[in-house]
Amino acid sequence: MSINNDLIKFFHESEYYTLKYKNYFPIYEKLFSKFRGKKITFVEIGVLSGGSLFMWRNYFGDQARIIGVELNPEAKRFEKYGFEIFIGNQGDEKFWNNFFDKVGDVDIILDDGGHTNFQQIVTTCCCISHIKDEGLLAVEDVFHSYGVSYGSKGFFNPSKFSFINFCKKTIDDINYRFPGSKKFRFSLNEYIYSAEFFESFVAFHVNRKMCEIKNEVLRNKGHDIKVEDLTHQQRDSIPGSNQFVIKFKKIHKSFRGNFKYLVFKINEYISKKFFK
Ligand SMILES: C[S@@+](CC[C@H](N)C(=O)[O-])C[C@H]1O[C@@H](n2cnc3c(N)ncnc32)[C@H](O)[C@@H]1O
Repeated sequence: MSINNDLIKFFHESEYYTLKYKNYFPIYEKLFSKFRGKKITFVEIGVLSGGSLFMWRNYFGDQARIIGVELNPEAKRFEKYGFEIFIGNQGDEKFWNNFFDKVGDVDIILDDGGHTNFQQIVTTCCCISHIKDEGLLAVEDVFHSYGVSYGSKGFFNPSKFSFINFCKKTIDDINYRFPGSKKFRFSLNEYIYSAEFFESFVAFHVNRKMCEIKNEVLRNKGHDIKVEDLTHQQRDSIPGSNQFVIKFKKIHKSFRGNFKYLVFKINEYISKKFFK
């Protein structure tokens, strides 16, 4: 991942105050660079002193429509610079319905607003279906989910219902597209094609068409040389075979089973250290 000097330059050059964490700059570059110079709609939740709006304008170019969402009506002052400003609460579903009625579907939403679990979750759930295919929702400051910020109480995290736990559920949601899998009652898996995790930062990539692909095995017409599939076989000649199973089979020569479940349980026990 490259460090984009343009963006950091625009950050420092912005006439108005802005604050961003250092490690976000290469992430922005990785996620957003393909949109530069294009006619896109970019939304940032959280305007504060407006400095980031100017940074985004310089980064994406004049063709981009840059929209700020903010609780504080003072943000309206930035409309005179050509930004669209919507005053409202990102944790309010009605606000988002009204917002998308007016704005239409968008390419990128960057959530740098209030950062509570509820705000991040409601924003994700209300916005995902209004992001265009190949667009994304990027959520900053997800360290709040771990209770490491704003004193010992943080945002009352960690919590079972933290934003990061919602993201972990989304990993299952994406995998549940596989035919025959369990389904969630609340699912965004017809929109979220993939998710990317960075330190303190999560991105959900939207692509309805890719989500529609019904997964199935494809087989080519190549010559099948009928090679034995060694999965679950335990023999001296197979690297890493389970020695207990091999010895047992030597003693009980007539035994045909492969102790698949026993090997699974032994390996599960060994793997526990990787889950600590
Ligand atoms: C971290 S600051 C934004 C910083 C700005 N994006 C920047 O990069 O300079 C967070 C902003 O989100 C606003 N905010 C907090 N809760 C919000 C909510 N529920 N809905 C919309 N904006 C909110 C705050 O008023 C504050 O201006």
